[in-house]
Amino acid sequence: MGEITQLLENNRQWSENQKNSDPEFFNKLSEQQNPEYLWIGCSDSRVPANQLLGLLPGDIFVHRNVANLVIHTDFNCLSVLQYAVDVLKVKHIIVCGHYGCGGIDAALGDQQFGLIDNWLGHIKDLAYKHRKELSALNGQDKTDRMCELNVMEQAENVRRSNIIKDAKKRGQTVRIHSWIYSLRNGRVQDLGVTNNDV
Ligand code: CO
Repeated sequence: MGEITQLLENNRQWSENQKNSDPEFFNKLSEQQNPEYLWIGCSDSRVPANQLLGLLPGDIFVHRNVANLVIHTDFNCLSVLQYAVDVLKVKHIIVCGHYGCGGIDAALGDQQFGLIDNWLGHIKDLAYKHRKELSALNGQDKTDRMCELNVMEQAENVRRSNIIKDAKKRGQTVRIHSWIYSLRNGRVQDLGVTNNDV
């Protein structure tokens, strides 16, 4: 209980600090959000979108799940994507994976973990697609390469969605970025841009 009480105390202090540095901060944000970015990242506690990009509340719309997947039947992710593109009109969609991803690592092994195996199955399919390249790698190298391949695949899934195709038809430009984050040094590496010129 003490730890939870501490969280509430942290929040009180944070709120005070924000108000001290910008008295209008919460007034402005309570009226509307106008983020330019959508972040699709891993649930991993070590990869918090706002903090590692130095962004404040209101700056970035966020969806996170295990291993930053964009699955065509995942209404949760697709709803976030649709709202971000159609309503918020974000200019950039950042799919950000990270090296050493536990979800990717688990998917590359044969161990069963229960319910999540169904989710990780999407990564297993992707590993099968790239089995030739991956068979030449071992251990951390294999996991890390798979983390990169996964980010690029998920960015491609965003691009192929009807949400992005419809945006393109309306003449709305949304740039889709594949990024990967290193837990070791806190740096993001840009793996490339997928444009919405479907
Ligand atoms: Co992860």
